Amino acid sequence: MDFTNATEPISNEASSDGRLDATAADSIGFSDYMLKEVYEQPSVVRNALANRLDLAVGLLVFPELAITRQQLEAIRHIYIVACGTSSHAGLIARDLIQTMTDLTVEVQIASEFVFRRTPHQNDTMVIAISQSGKTSDTLGAVEIARQNGAYIVAITNVEGSPITSSADASIYVHADVELAVPATKSYTAQLTLLTLFAIYLGQEIGRLNKAEVEAFYTRLMGIPDKIEQVLSPPSLTQIKAAAQECADAASVLFLSRTNGVVTCQEAALKLKEISYIHAEAFPALEFLHGPIALVDGQNNIPVIALFPPGQPDAAMLGVTERVKSYGAKLIALTDTENKQLNETADQTISLPPADEMQMPFVAVVALQLFAHEVGLLLGRDIDNPRYLSKAVTVNQDGN
Ligand code: M6R
Repeated sequence: MDFTNATEPISNEASSDGRLDATAADSIGFSDYMLKEVYEQPSVVRNALANRLDLAVGLLVFPELAITRQQLEAIRHIYIVACGTSSHAGLIARDLIQTMTDLTVEVQIASEFVFRRTPHQNDTMVIAISQSGKTSDTLGAVEIARQNGAYIVAITNVEGSPITSSADASIYVHADVELAVPATKSYTAQLTLLTLFAIYLGQEIGRLNKAEVEAFYTRLMGIPDKIEQVLSPPSLTQIKAAAQECADAASVLFLSRTNGVVTCQEAALKLKEISYIHAEAFPALEFLHGPIALVDGQNNIPVIALFPPGQPDAAMLGVTERVKSYGAKLIALTDTENKQLNETADQTISLPPADEMQMPFVAVVALQLFAHEVGLLLGRDIDNPRYLSKAVTVNQDGN
């Protein structure tokens, strides 16, 4: 099947029981909607970037915010609230916003935010991220933020969804309808908007000049082509081979450093959701503080190591060598050729060269495909994983 040429619009949505029909997905050239949505990501990122840079002045624009520069400058605290995959987009955004603004940003799982005494003032911004815009835990967190007088920015994919009526401003990620329960293109669209938003905040509070803003934007513009490389045959062959190695695993452990840890958390969530195999992500060096005892030497708990861009750092290389020496199967994802790593890893998934801002997009697409392939090998219902629905709308009382 030639995935890359299948670009027709989705013609069939969920049936009356809310489940997606794989036969309908096949009719548009893919085995399922998740795969179709994975392949839409280059254009989704391009769409999200479009019209955000005002070429006349060389600055980013967010007209949705309806907030003055003075009000933005007065912001002292930022909380990000979200669930599941959207919370992972929030974790990537946290570091970006901190880097661009020097403000402290905290990410809270929405269902826990409601229990925590979180100091709010009118100098607090709450960024609520929800693909569907109707996840009840996120709506609950937004309600508390609203009562406490925070300025609320909703980031969502669904126009007119409930979250938009509680927020002071709504930013749409314009990923188009996402049908498969496993979130893919909405995540990369969220990442795009949140990265732009972080740069915008830095620009508005005077931390970034025009040249810096344009340089960041240019780096973002390079992402869609890199995603296309991940979706191309040489990369697919490596991803499929890695999936073969993991399909009978008891558990899959993911290791990385810096924002790669978040990508691994997202990969672990995707793998659990699609394949029902247990998976967990760790910062590579933190793995030595206990979890390394999980490595069983029986080859049924593979370790997947996502190396940050550039030559692998010695510390992470050292951890992977230890893991390997204890008998684990080691799969490495890297954008760089490294002899020592080649000799250590059982398999390598080569990523296109990417910088630290680009890598979360590039690596997550490879790991979405990996999870998808494991699910296929196990015969799972990819678009409709058991016990899950597209939006979790149970409330705190469990209703
Ligand atoms: O619609 P939301 O972004 O609020 O949904 C949040 C989570 O329920 C969602 O991301 C979930 O984790 C995905 N199914 C994971 O693929």
